[in-house]
Amino acid sequence: MCGIVGYVGFQNVVPVLIGGLKTLEYRGYDSAGIATIAEDHLHLIRAKGKLRNLEEKINGHTPGSTIGIGHTRWATHGKPEEHNAHPHTDSRGGLAVVQNGIIENYVVLRYDLKDKGHSFNSQTDTEVIPHLIEEALLLERGNLLHAVLRAVRQLEGAFALVIISKEHPGELIAVRQQAPMVVGLGTKENFCSSDAIALVQHTQRILTLKDGEVARLTADSVNLYTFAGKPVHRYAQVLNWNRSQVEKQGFRHFMLKEIHEQPGVIRAALARHLVEDRVELPLPPKFLVGIDRIQIVACGTSWHAALVGKFLLEELAQIPTEVSYASEFRYAPPPMDASTLVLGVTQSGETQDTLSALDVAVKKGCKLLGITNRPESRLGHFIEELGPKRGALLDMGAGIEIGVAATKTFTAQLILFYLVALTLAALRRPEYEQAALLTALTQLPAQLELILDAQLAWITEKAHEVNHLHNFIFIGRGINYPVALEGALKLKEISYIPAMGYPAGEMKHGPIALLDSSCAVVAVAMPGRVYEKVLSNTQEAKARDAVLIGVTPRTALAEDTFDILLPVPEVHELVSPLITTVPLQLLAYFIAAHRGLDVDQPRNLAKSVTVE
Ligand code: F6R
Repeated sequence: MCGIVGYVGFQNVVPVLIGGLKTLEYRGYDSAGIATIAEDHLHLIRAKGKLRNLEEKINGHTPGSTIGIGHTRWATHGKPEEHNAHPHTDSRGGLAVVQNGIIENYVVLRYDLKDKGHSFNSQTDTEVIPHLIEEALLLERGNLLHAVLRAVRQLEGAFALVIISKEHPGELIAVRQQAPMVVGLGTKENFCSSDAIALVQHTQRILTLKDGEVARLTADSVNLYTFAGKPVHRYAQVLNWNRSQVEKQGFRHFMLKEIHEQPGVIRAALARHLVEDRVELPLPPKFLVGIDRIQIVACGTSWHAALVGKFLLEELAQIPTEVSYASEFRYAPPPMDASTLVLGVTQSGETQDTLSALDVAVKKGCKLLGITNRPESRLGHFIEELGPKRGALLDMGAGIEIGVAATKTFTAQLILFYLVALTLAALRRPEYEQAALLTALTQLPAQLELILDAQLAWITEKAHEVNHLHNFIFIGRGINYPVALEGALKLKEISYIPAMGYPAGEMKHGPIALLDSSCAVVAVAMPGRVYEKVLSNTQEAKARDAVLIGVTPRTALAEDTFDILLPVPEVHELVSPLITTVPLQLLAYFIAAHRGLDVDQPRNLAKSVTVE
């Protein structure tokens, strides 16, 4: 979950490392550090807290250098203190290592190394690595690549590493084992990182390492090897990303920018996948034929998107569908076989819980359909290795999402669920008339633009009015129940206000006890089969003095029912989650922004969760 960046070339390395770490700070931000080599010495600077603390500490205090590594940390082993920050060094202070992941056998290794006379300065699992390499260098007669290979073969767990050594001042070694690592190719310079986002400022040419591979980078060359030392040949891929995607472009936060990108995300997805009013997904022929049931695994916001997906798959395609938290599924998978399609939904494609759950499903013989925003991720590789009979991948195509709280990628996931459900409906229920739903989908971008243009000031003001409330309960029913869950998650993760999502009809079975005038009830009430029911559930809350907020079309009844209205247009009931989510994202955003909180990097969170 940490961010890693490495550079070897001709530029002054410090701005390259800091620039890269800034784009990676969303992966972890408890502490940060860099190591560079200059004048035959390794120079190490680390600081607790956000990257700006490291920048202040560096402030011209490193000698000029053209090779270095940097790290931004999300603590697993050891508190977020300076001595636990990466890079970590060996006993001589000659080589430095940054790591993302967990070394599961570090305790045993640490005892062994202590017996050999090594001493440790941190509580991290990472610190054993430079000491192991130090030992291996003796056995490998100073060959850094061979020493790293010898050391990594002793490590257990999921990890990505980058290593530099003052005895090898033009060489940088990158390692990947179940944690992301990419190499960026330049001219007389090369880069590596845990995420290609950090490299787009410099190059679009990327080599993605696979699990069990090591790359040796110099300014002029990149060579790949397996952990056994066998050379690997791979062509570079060219990213179609640009710098503007990693800039705020005038918005105060990435989250606000990404909320505004949602109409474009929907438009682009429909343009990609609608051909003459028919859905065409890039799936292998017959991939969706012969499926009896669907099992979806996901975490967090992706799990909420999956709940909407279940509704659509059952309603449109009439296929029984289950949704599981990936972290629960792995240890209690339901009965499944080759007729079960397993959908893995993960925007990052790196969430360890989801990847482990998919591994279980593959072992049971299921077909896999991955939905991700990062096709170059571990999920992408996993599915590629399965081959087109067993696995397929759908790219959400939402563009890079930097804000830690998912917004536009939720919308992109939803759109793909509509398109998958319609594709399956066409196969299984040719009598189902798709036109009305497709028209409703194509009208959405303009409707969302209206909300974003016309209501921004209104929602800002209303967010200010409810900022003092202590507790928020989000309610919805049917296809908008997952939207209530997502509204609650957005609010709690960026504003730290206790918030929960509930099916509206369940409130009277418990949560109603929480209600008083310090509590807000946010109801998603869209015209359709449960509209009146949701409205009557809100009356129960009103009778208990809660502040009532409604995401609902403006009607006399709605004006009368709610204290605060966040109006949305009346739309086809089935597409309503795509419209009702946006006011809730904005409400959460403005509440957190009014409180002066770090909206893009909320405390304790990381954008991709690569540990179980
Ligand atoms: C919430 C959020 C997280 C992620 C979750 C899964 O805003 O971003 O809940 O949705 O960690 O991440 P992915 O989709 O990358 O598997």
